[in-house]
Amino acid sequence: GGIRGGLMGSSQQLGGGLLVDLHASYLATSASVEASTTVFELAAASHLRMSGAYWGLCALSLIRKTNAMDINALVEWVASCQHSDSGGFGADTNHDAHILYTLSAVQILAIVDRMDAIDVKAAADYVAARQCADGSFTGDEWGERDTRFSYCAVSCLALLGRLDAIDVDAATTHVMSCMNFDGGFGCVPGGESHAGQVFTGVGALSIIDPQLRMLSEAQKRTMAAWLAERQTSKGGFNGRPEKLPDVCYSWWVLSALACLGKLHYIDGSKLRAFVLGCQNDERGGISDRPDDEADVYHTFFGIAGLSLLGLDTDVVDAVDARFALPEKVVERILLR
Ligand code: FPP
Ligand code: ZN
Repeated sequence: GGIRGGLMGSSQQLGGGLLVDLHASYLATSASVEASTTVFELAAASHLRMSGAYWGLCALSLIRKTNAMDINALVEWVASCQHSDSGGFGADTNHDAHILYTLSAVQILAIVDRMDAIDVKAAADYVAARQCADGSFTGDEWGERDTRFSYCAVSCLALLGRLDAIDVDAATTHVMSCMNFDGGFGCVPGGESHAGQVFTGVGALSIIDPQLRMLSEAQKRTMAAWLAERQTSKGGFNGRPEKLPDVCYSWWVLSALACLGKLHYIDGSKLRAFVLGCQNDERGGISDRPDDEADVYHTFFGIAGLSLLGLDTDVVDAVDARFALPEKVVERILLR
């Protein structure tokens, strides 16, 4: 841990900044696609592979290093994970379809601008079929309902240009019913407030209406206050009261604050120092907290959090807080 650096050759990496070259090589090695089997060696279990591919690719895109990846092999593998019966995507070839991996697949294809490689109508139908009568969503044919799945549905359909495939008002009402009096969101109505669920709630509502007109100013202030309380004395954020800080909450908390227009509620330079202190300065990658092992998940959410802070624009592109995608990708898709 600690802000190290100063050993790197590039001047932008002197003085303990973001080690973009090291992170690029770390991500490219963890996310190499083998041409024939198109297997992602993501140091992530196979059941997470599609999301791992999205985290790795999106991180590389934000630090402007996608040339390290074989995009054609990636697109071919993503397309091979779409089920011809349901239209949903599995985490890998021959894995069951799930809304989480359907969103990750669509996010990958959005980044590389290759939505033509899949059956878009079947994917949208799969997502729409997950909506329940009360407006909530299940993750697959059997699973529980969770605000994570509401977020996945809304984000995925917006990226596919098919929000008309669901009852958006019912989805809105359900997400709002998962909001708690403390300003947080749970995974179901009455569920414990958790910063990850705040992202899914506020993110879904912001995709539906970027002005968040379904929320009162008082509700927005209460949410921002609960989120700001997640910043610990070390600068990093936790996901719930009394928990340890963790780099991934730089994203879950900050993105929700960005959607609410209240990034000024927290100390950005202290958060930046915490994230930079979680870099592995020998092999690259970012860990959940100082001195833990780096992984692709925390590398992505660390970089994406720094992007939202806007203090490293020389090396990191702007990220869209609602979609967790590069801003330029979202602009291209929404203008279409
Ligand atoms: C914490 O997870 C995070 C959440 C509960 C939110 C997850 C959001 C999605 C899956 C939606 C898709 C996300 C993006 C960025 C497009 P955790 O299980 O690590 O929580 P813990 O810290 O309590 O273990
Ligand atoms: Zn984490």
